[in-house]
Amino acid sequence: KPHIVTCTAPVNIAVIKYWGKRHEELILPINSSLSVTLHQDQLKTTTTVATSRSFQEDRIWLNGKEEDINHPRLQSCLREIRRLSRKRRNDGDPILNATGLSHKVHICSVNNFPTAAGLASSAAGFACLVYTLAQVFGIEGELSGIARQGSGSACRSIYGGFVQWLMGQKEDGKDSLAQQVEPESHWPELRILVLVASAERKPVGSTSGMQTSVQTSCLLKHRAESVVPGRMAEMIQAVRRKDFAAFAELTMKDSNQFHATCLDTYPPIFYLNSVSQQVINVVHRYNRHYGETRLAYTFDAGPNAVIFTLQQHVPELVEVVQHFFPPETNGGQFIKGLPVNPVA
Ligand code: DP6
Repeated sequence: KPHIVTCTAPVNIAVIKYWGKRHEELILPINSSLSVTLHQDQLKTTTTVATSRSFQEDRIWLNGKEEDINHPRLQSCLREIRRLSRKRRNDGDPILNATGLSHKVHICSVNNFPTAAGLASSAAGFACLVYTLAQVFGIEGELSGIARQGSGSACRSIYGGFVQWLMGQKEDGKDSLAQQVEPESHWPELRILVLVASAERKPVGSTSGMQTSVQTSCLLKHRAESVVPGRMAEMIQAVRRKDFAAFAELTMKDSNQFHATCLDTYPPIFYLNSVSQQVINVVHRYNRHYGETRLAYTFDAGPNAVIFTLQQHVPELVEVVQHFFPPETNGGQFIKGLPVNPVA
């Protein structure tokens, strides 16, 4: 009889961006980063892991299609989980309901949003995979270091609320872990809206994009060494104080600097499209109109806009988006009003 465990993990949106590695296999970053994890009911991955004595080999299905289990990052996560499980057993820890180490796994993972459209699908995906496997093999404790080896940004989706990924100093990466800055309950008025400008696959993936940036962009080096450390400290303060204007300004500046490093990469990488640029203009005009910072945008490795605002401005924001970006004009785009917390 198979043993089956299902878990979900939400997407996280970086407000101080991770871009660039100092170690490819271990996935160690050149700067720390900070993100907001969405609420569990929103953009999420659901992963089911089944184990059985009768399974001949490990297998994986992503969104209904079987994929290659020998993917190196998937193998890193599976290997780490089995290694920790073996260690716990050797240490004599009682492991209840856990699967035998020799048992093979069948993994099935689905997203409730478009994959690879710059909506952090790998982050939720690997966080969920590692978390579910840990349940199956009876592992407790720190999992962000394993999720990180699946995809850097995935380590932040292990925690809810406001999360920092400390870059760490050690060569083996043992101190490159995620840490909760504040729980999801800290800032209940904060809202996130996603404006999908394109659900197509991005032309340059984050992994190869950041490799080229590390090799060619001197702006990226400057950013990692001289800009991000100060910004991390300021961002943590803004979050702790629930200072929306400070949070918003840092978020927009960091997104802009990230896309500037993409342009400084040679050959340059363009993630923003004309809709993204219009969103940037509309947000600044809106804030100027009210004489206060009510909206902030951020963009990852794709054209989709993530907008932060406070709950009281959501109805008007939805009207603004519908006015400037009606669904018929830009080909199937949609908005999703996403509370960081469930609406009370
Ligand atoms: C722009 O975590 O997808 O979203 O570690 O190579 O898997 P790998 O890259 P990934 O990069 C995310 C980049 C980003 C910024 C961020 O989420 O911090």
